[in-house]
Amino acid sequence: MPKMFKKKEEEKVFKVRRGKFVSRLRGMKDILPDEYKYWNLVIKKASELSKAYGFRRVDTPVLESWELFERSSGRSSDVVTKEMFSFIDKNNDKIALRPEATPGIVRAYIEHGMFNLPQPVKLFWLGPVFRHDKPQAGRFRQFSQFNLENIGEPSPVADAELIAVTYYFFRELQIDVTIQINSIGCPLCRKDYLVKLENFYKERGRRVKLCHDCKKRLIKNPLRLLDCKEKLCVEMASEAPQIVDGLCDDCRNHFIKVLEYLDELDMPYNLHSTLVRGLDYYNRTVFEIWPTPAESQATKSADAAAPKKDELPRQAALGGGGRYDGLVEYMGGRPTPACGFAIGLERVILKIKEKNIPLQDEEKGDIFLAQLGDQARRKIMKLFEVLRKAGFNTRQAFTKDSLKSQLEIANKMGVKYTLILGQKEIMDGTILIRDMESGIQEIIDYKKIVAEIEKRLGNPAK
Ligand code: HAM
Repeated sequence: MPKMFKKKEEEKVFKVRRGKFVSRLRGMKDILPDEYKYWNLVIKKASELSKAYGFRRVDTPVLESWELFERSSGRSSDVVTKEMFSFIDKNNDKIALRPEATPGIVRAYIEHGMFNLPQPVKLFWLGPVFRHDKPQAGRFRQFSQFNLENIGEPSPVADAELIAVTYYFFRELQIDVTIQINSIGCPLCRKDYLVKLENFYKERGRRVKLCHDCKKRLIKNPLRLLDCKEKLCVEMASEAPQIVDGLCDDCRNHFIKVLEYLDELDMPYNLHSTLVRGLDYYNRTVFEIWPTPAESQATKSADAAAPKKDELPRQAALGGGGRYDGLVEYMGGRPTPACGFAIGLERVILKIKEKNIPLQDEEKGDIFLAQLGDQARRKIMKLFEVLRKAGFNTRQAFTKDSLKSQLEIANKMGVKYTLILGQKEIMDGTILIRDMESGIQEIIDYKKIVAEIEKRLGNPAK
C-alpha cells in the first residue's frame, strides 16, 4: 500500500483513478528518448543538404482550411476523399489537419507576397502530417515529412536538382534507393492521352475487371487508374498506352533534359511508365524514391499489392514529388512554375534500423562528475556549470549518493575521465581524476581542474 495514502478513502480514490488509462490513438507513435538519435541524424542531414542547395526553412500551421486541400491535393485523390482528418470547428468552419505540406507552402508563398522576392523561392519544410490511412509497418496516421519546394523556376535543372538532393540524402544515410521517374505531360498533351486511356479501358471488357474505386476513377480522373494497387488493375495498367509516347514537344524536351542531367550526375533512375502519383496537382516530371529490392524486404508487409516482377509496390516509397506548374495560379496566385518533393522520415528511420547503421550515441560524454556527501554535491553542481559553459561534454548524476552507482553510470556513458569529490578532497582543496579505461586515479589541485582537463582533452573552444 503506498505510504502517502493514509486513509482508506484516499486509497479507494487512488485505485479508481489509476484504473483509467487512456492509450495513444491507432496509427500514432510516441518518439521515445532512445529513438531520438535516429531523428537527430535524419533532421541534421535534411538541414545540411537544404542549406547547401539554397533552400530556406519555412513552417506552416498544422490546421488549415479544408478547402485548401480539397482544391490542391485534389477532389479525386485518396488523400482528400478518404484520408483527411477534417472537422467543423466552433465557428462552423470546415478545417483539416494537413495531410501534406505542399498546399500550405503554396498558400504561404501567395499570402506573404513571396512572388515579389527574387525567383525562384526555394523552401525547406519539415514537420508532422496526418492521414487517416490503414496503419501498418511504415504507414502511420501521423508521420513526418521533409519537403523541398522550388517555386518560380521552370527549368528542368530545378527538377534534376531536387532529384539529386533526394538521392544524396539517401546515399549519405547509406540507404540504397532507385529513382522511379515518369512524365505526365501538361494539360494539353494529357487531353489526347486521356481519350486513348479511356478507350483502352473500354475495350475487351476491361472495365468490368476494374476494382470498385477504379470504376469511379474512369469517370472522374482516368489517369489515376494507373496508380491503383489492386492486382488486376496493376496488370491492366501495365498494358495501357504509355503517357510518355503522347507528350507534346515542350514536355518531351523538358523530360529529356531532366534525364540528361540525371545521367550527367550518375543517378540510377528507372523510367516508370505507369507512375502518375496520387495527388492532382502534378504535371510533367513525377518521381518516387523506392528502396532497392534488397532494401525493400522489411517494408513488404506494409504493401497491399504483391510486387510485380522485380518492382516494389508504391506504398513502400520513401519519398516522392514532381512538378506542379499550375498550382500557384490555381490557388489564386500568378502563373508560377514549381516543383518539389517529400520524404517520409519514419520510413527512412525504419531503413536505418534495419541496416543497423552505427550511430553516434549522443548521451556519451567525456567527463563525469561524482560526489560523496552533501557538501561535495553542492560544490560539484557549481563545477558542472563551469565545465559545461567551458564547452566540455560533461555528465553527472547529482541525485545519486553512492560512488559505486555513480561510477556505473559514468561507465555506461562511456566517459574518459571521472572527477571525484569527497569530504577529504574538500578539506585538502583537491579533487580526484580517474582514468576510466586504466582505472588509475590521481590527485589534482581543485583550482587547476580546467587546465588539467584541457591538457588531457584539448580546449573545446578551439
Ligand atoms: P506523398 O507521396 O503523398 O507526396 O508523400 C511523400 C512520402 O510520405 C511518401 O513517399 C512516404 O515516404 C511518406 N508517407 C506517405 N504516407 C505515409 C504514411 N501513412 N505513413 C508514413 N509515411 C507516409 C506528398 O505528400 C507531396 N506533397 C510531395 C510533394 C512535395 N510534391 C511536390 N512537392
